[in-house]
Amino acid sequence: MMMDEELGEVTKPQAKALRAMDDCIRRLRAVLDNLLDVTGLETGRMRFFHRDYDFLDTVRRAVAAVADRFAEQGVQLFEEFPLGPLPAYGDADRLGRAIVQVLDNAAKFAPQGGRVGVRVRVLENAYELVVADTGSGVPPERADRIFDSFYQVDGSPTRAHGGVGVGLAIARRVARGLGGDIRVTQGAAIAGSFFPGAVFWLTVATRAPTVVLDTAHN
Ligand SMILES: Nc1ncnc2c1ncn2[C@@H]1O[C@H](COP(=O)(O)OP(=O)(O)OP(=O)(O)O)[C@@H](O)[C@H]1O
Ligand SMILES: [Mg+2]
Repeated sequence: MMMDEELGEVTKPQAKALRAMDDCIRRLRAVLDNLLDVTGLETGRMRFFHRDYDFLDTVRRAVAAVADRFAEQGVQLFEEFPLGPLPAYGDADRLGRAIVQVLDNAAKFAPQGGRVGVRVRVLENAYELVVADTGSGVPPERADRIFDSFYQVDGSPTRAHGGVGVGLAIARRVARGLGGDIRVTQGAAIAGSFFPGAVFWLTVATRAPTVVLDTAHN
């Protein structure tokens, strides 16, 4: 209400402060949402609500959701998408949030003014999303551990980046719950441009399995 000046006029510096507060609250809420998600999956409960959706649409929405963050970091986006529609069946909301985690990481770990590449491909009975950046990547010996809850390559209190280390744990459970997986390698070419940093490969089955998986044990 204050931002919308419903409670009276707001000066420019006040508006700036309000925007900063709004931003902080949003971030805090995102952290809380993630923590609640991770608690749910640690206890084996991750509920999926499957429906018909469009994979490409979900990717585009996720990219749009991080557009501000990319702009803030001066990150340039490269896209390589097939022609849609890409019909699928699964939990599009959970998938969208999982994709946002990966994109958010790419923006976070790419250097200021860096590049992020996003590619979608159609596989046999599956869709594949690749997200690559121009950061320093993930050391091969850490490539599996980064999908563990609360694991961060740099977990020191003085580390350069924020976060609590649950984004990828959530993304992996979601991908597996949708009949796919997520893994990381280093260096890939997307849209004619080379990205030397981390490359995340996320797949989902075009039709998610309806059996409920015990997410705490896979
Ligand atoms: N694109 C990337 N480049 C380099 N390292 C990465 C990248 N993405 C993830 N990592 C490494 O994997 C760790 C775990 O990522 P994850 O998204 O789970 O947690 P986070 O981003 O640190 O915190 P959160 O997602 O909970 O805000 C990161 O802390 C980082 O060390
Ligand atoms: Mg993250």
